[in-house]
Amino acid sequence: MRERISPARSVSGSITLPGDKSISHRYAILGAIAEGTTRLRNYSTGADCASTLGCLRALGIDIEVRADEVVIHGRGLDGLREPAATLDAGNSGSTIRMLSGILAGQPFPTRIGGDESLSRRPMDRIMKPLAEMGARIEARNGRYPPLEIRGAKLRPIDYALPVASAQVKSCVLLAGLYAEGRTTVREPVATRDHTEIALREFGGSVETAGRAISIEGRPRLSARELAVPGDLSSAAFFLVAALLVPGSRLLIQGVGLNPTRSALLDFLASMGARIRILNVAQSAGELAGDVLVEHSPVKGGVIEKALVSSLIDEIPVLAVLGAASDEGLVVRDAAELRVKETDRIATVAENLRRLGVQVEVTPDGMRVPGRQRFRAADLDSFGDHRIAMAFAVAALAAEGECVIESAEAACVSFPEFFQKLRQVVE
Ligand code: S3P
Repeated sequence: MRERISPARSVSGSITLPGDKSISHRYAILGAIAEGTTRLRNYSTGADCASTLGCLRALGIDIEVRADEVVIHGRGLDGLREPAATLDAGNSGSTIRMLSGILAGQPFPTRIGGDESLSRRPMDRIMKPLAEMGARIEARNGRYPPLEIRGAKLRPIDYALPVASAQVKSCVLLAGLYAEGRTTVREPVATRDHTEIALREFGGSVETAGRAISIEGRPRLSARELAVPGDLSSAAFFLVAALLVPGSRLLIQGVGLNPTRSALLDFLASMGARIRILNVAQSAGELAGDVLVEHSPVKGGVIEKALVSSLIDEIPVLAVLGAASDEGLVVRDAAELRVKETDRIATVAENLRRLGVQVEVTPDGMRVPGRQRFRAADLDSFGDHRIAMAFAVAALAAEGECVIESAEAACVSFPEFFQKLRQVVE
């Protein structure tokens, strides 16, 4: 699908966003292995979170998707059943990596794979700790999906993560549910902590000491009724759109503001963005509130070291903002971007160049000089949801109409994106 985007006069009004993708996956997985009926409001409408539900159904879990809630009939820690076919994680790295942690502890074998993009993403990062725990896992060429997982009675481990990854951390913690005793994961830098928070909500015992997170195995998890906050990573596209287009004033309501995610707002504020946070409240351990953003000239900045994992999903759209900022954007220490849904250093740079924007690519990042103009261009999502949305936002500030090829990729996390964008763009 091609989307045509015309230059915008303003981005204004008020919107709500679908539920956070990361939190939705975790609530669904924990709901499936908890005892009783879990009800989730504002579950992510993205294809990735539907992939998680599909896999859970194939594992014998009864799930009802209603207009206003997802109802998961949990079967307890030992209630999953051997699936009849290969589990399909679609495009979703979170699904394959987190579910593998659960599958490693099952008394039956499973095979799990996904689409072409997922089949190129490294899984050795989860295979290693799960093998240490006692599972046997085979992968294509030793590291790519599909994975053949032979579950086992798992041993608890104390594991120092070699890469900063919430997905790998979560995989080991979820496997730890099936290990007798205490499993510990040590992070090199803090990553999103939705798994820890959700585990506590469902009745698990999780302790955090600095960057070491420990979980007790074989807990009894109980069903919960939960509302998923709006996705801050989806909000990022609207925040940047409003910052870029003069005259904009946009209210984004009910957005997740978990401190391991909200570095985005601090980073934008540090660049001079006019952003206000209103009506903050906590529910089930997760903060949420409204975010008001107004068009502002922004300075530019540097994303490096620990900030990289806090902003990992937002870097594509921040690169767009960087090109229009006063001093530009520098990204370093971000080689992880190369193993996302696409090589996001390459796909961001390619689209920036099509817009006539200069960018210097490095092995672990990029340098985007500021004060650049965007000319009308044919842009491409390259099948990556965040690239589709980041460059739809760039198109709003371009000198003429732009086209986004394969714009349907946005559906992976945010099927309503283009419709919501039209709602607030004049
Ligand atoms: C996610 C963690 C991040 C992020 C992804 C979702 C999660 O991946 O890029 O979109 O839900 O845990 P990594 O943990 O692999 O960096």
